Amino acid sequence: MQIDDALISRLKDGVKTINDQHKKIFDFTTDLFAHCVGDDEEENLYFEAVIGDAAELIKTHFKTEEELMLETKFSFYEYTDHKKEHEEFVCAVNNYIEQFQASRSTNLLMFASYVKWWVIGHIKRHDRKYINYFNRLTEGSGIEKMRV
Ligand SMILES: [Fe+2]
Ligand SMILES: [Fe+2]
Repeated sequence: MQIDDALISRLKDGVKTINDQHKKIFDFTTDLFAHCVGDDEEENLYFEAVIGDAAELIKTHFKTEEELMLETKFSFYEYTDHKKEHEEFVCAVNNYIEQFQASRSTNLLMFASYVKWWVIGHIKRHDRKYINYFNRLTEGSGIEKMRV
């Protein structure tokens, strides 16, 4: 992959954005567990209050990763596989939201555990691959490294 100044500058912004998004997603996971207090009403109110923004954050993050993988000509096979995982997670989160809307209740601890399990596994198996690739592409350019 030929790398020019325009792509370096694009990667510089992209890497920073992705690092920030990953931090926000981890913070959200921590916050989810902090709100598993054993009181159904409180947990449902919390879920209702935060789930919209959280779903947006997740979708925006996936889009950022996917666009940058395409722009940097990351392996198309890996990209397709990665995107499929993103879609499955969005679908699972949407199912939680729909179930909540239908029943006005959710199992917050189960949701928190699922999100944490998925995020950690996904970063290890999928994000790690493009992270190593981005870090190799920007080697020596002095820009921020991917953190996870
Ligand atoms: Fe990610
Ligand atoms: Fe990802």
